[in-house]
Amino acid sequence: MAVEPLVAAAPYLIQQIYEDYTADQHEVWAELLRRRRPQLESYACREYLQGYEIIGLQDDRLPNLSAITTRLKPRTRWNATPVSGFLPKEAFFEMLAARMFPTTTYLRGRDSLEYTPQPDIFHDVFGHVPMHAHPVFADFLQHYGSVCAAIEDETILERLGRLFWYTVEFGLIRQDGKIKVYGSGVISSHGECTNVISGGCEIRDFNLDEVLDTRVKVDQIHKRLFAIESFDQLYEAMHQAESRLAGPQT
Ligand SMILES: [Fe+2]
Repeated sequence: MAVEPLVAAAPYLIQQIYEDYTADQHEVWAELLRRRRPQLESYACREYLQGYEIIGLQDDRLPNLSAITTRLKPRTRWNATPVSGFLPKEAFFEMLAARMFPTTTYLRGRDSLEYTPQPDIFHDVFGHVPMHAHPVFADFLQHYGSVCAAIEDETILERLGRLFWYTVEFGLIRQDGKIKVYGSGVISSHGECTNVISGGCEIRDFNLDEVLDTRVKVDQIHKRLFAIESFDQLYEAMHQAESRLAGPQT
């Protein structure tokens, strides 16, 4: 199958200059992993933990994105593609549709280990990329991008943005009778993850209509999140959302 060249995303594609990372930045990465890994051993879903091994993250070195792609691509055809920062939505959707995950190369500093308002390589790679090794999640995410790339209506895009937020970013799943996390925002944040597992957050069964109706509040810890039963459920939900929201555009 021919690969279409990126158009909207082209100005944002960069190279990761791996040799430019300093010893101190590698140490910040190691510190971030020391802070997050213990909780995730118990509370991350099994697909995340498997994906983490598949992509070959190292405890003491920042990830080399081309090495990750080399391990990821044969599994699900996904890439971890370096970009210069936050992308406009057209570029973001175009990349997801092409199975290219826009991945920042910047790493947060020591003064913002728990939270950084701008995307960074820790959130993008540690938080997101392991899930891209799971075939069903991988197909869901590509489908999400291709559907959104064809929509111009801002109201519909906002509703689909909620689906992304409450799954890819802050999704929970029931496994072995327990709540586990898979959304990158919960994976990468000790505060958000602790909020979920300590009962500080109402956990509702995933329901597409309710998710599409639940506004996103980016400036406060979550009071309500949604738990799927399986990634097949998520895959199906995206097809339902497509048929309900992305019908023939006039
Ligand atoms: Fe994210």
